[in-house]
Amino acid sequence: PSFGLLLDIDGVLVRGRTPIPAAREAFRKLAGPGGRLRVPVVFVTNAGNCLQKAKAEQLSRILGISVSPKQVLLSHTPLQMFQQFHDKHVLVSGQGPVLEIAKNLGFRKGVSIDALREAFPWLDRSDRNRRTTIASTPNPDFPRVEAVILFGEPIKWEINLQLIMDILLTNGSLSTVSHTAPYPHIPVLACNMDLLWAAEALTPRFGHGIFMLCLESLYKKVTGKKLKYEALVGKPSHITYQYAESVARKLSEEMGWTNPITTLYAIGDNPMTDIYGANLYNRLLKERTRKGSKARVQPKVAAVRGASTDVTQVCDPENGAGSETVQGSVTSCKSVLVCTGVYTPSQNGAAGRMEAGFHGHRDFTFDPELIEPAHVVEDISAAVDLVFELEKYSPL
Ligand SMILES: *[C@@H]1O[C@H](CO)[C@@H](O)[C@H](O)[C@H]1NC(C)=O
Ligand SMILES: [Mg+2]
Repeated sequence: PSFGLLLDIDGVLVRGRTPIPAAREAFRKLAGPGGRLRVPVVFVTNAGNCLQKAKAEQLSRILGISVSPKQVLLSHTPLQMFQQFHDKHVLVSGQGPVLEIAKNLGFRKGVSIDALREAFPWLDRSDRNRRTTIASTPNPDFPRVEAVILFGEPIKWEINLQLIMDILLTNGSLSTVSHTAPYPHIPVLACNMDLLWAAEALTPRFGHGIFMLCLESLYKKVTGKKLKYEALVGKPSHITYQYAESVARKLSEEMGWTNPITTLYAIGDNPMTDIYGANLYNRLLKERTRKGSKARVQPKVAAVRGASTDVTQVCDPENGAGSETVQGSVTSCKSVLVCTGVYTPSQNGAAGRMEAGFHGHRDFTFDPELIEPAHVVEDISAAVDLVFELEKYSPL
């Protein structure tokens, strides 16, 4: 075989904490004797409020096989490449062990929203029961915040929205009073742009994309200017797919495959995220193939028609972990849509799905071709059957 699988988790393998029955069935086909996988499988999720290790343990329990942390790509995993921020004071927004996550990614000077609230207690006024009567005084010992990282949706959104706005409007120093908001503002890096996601509920839930939408709208309303992102990572960003490709390649080498992987199948439930991202990466791969196998994938998505033009800086493959991810053997990335999550077949085709409006992120322009899946199947088990058939691969 010369293919690998990139599997989304929510809406494909689980809904909330509940496993989707087809997932175990799929892994009975994918696993050989002793529960060892027969083909490279990389779990690519936009979840981010946890560590890779925790997600791997959860998947191992659900799927009945042993999943290693390196097989799990979370929305923030590619931030390891942004070394220029690793020694800066970065404000981290999200929930779960955000400071630990930041540290694991290489950020040595993470600052939590809670630390800000404690240092400047008069800033958080939304909860009347918690309002403090402390007068506002400068706190010059508190380090200037040099960048903001949005990992995932926080718990009390109003606090994060207020404090992130305060940081952006004061150039990172809450002790100073500025009469005009600095622009461009300090760098903002964001993971996981998903507007909606599928949990146990019958209708989709708010995702981090909605939190980002709130922050973007607030910033625009208050300053009249556009909130800018230094980086957007997680699906559908191509950075995430490059990473996934390199992981799949390493897994195939460990399996002792002599043929390099040429095709990736990206299986997901969200047309705006999984299908858009896979198709966008497929375009980049075609470009790479056209330029010869040694050519580097252009780091800026702006190079591709119909993709982001507003991400000021993505990553520099010349420096850091990015470099090893760009000289791959993969020539295509095929999108496979399943019907166990956000997408339901009653939304007929791209046109039907678009009636409600474009759900992708502001900085990724809409292109109907990019949300058209190469294949649509019932569930993950049917997706595995389809891939085996297309690849003429029979494990038995
Ligand atoms: C924001 O702070 C940085 C670092 O202190 C400084 O270089 C920059 O000039 C400041 N920008 C504004 C608009 O004050
Ligand atoms: Mg999903």
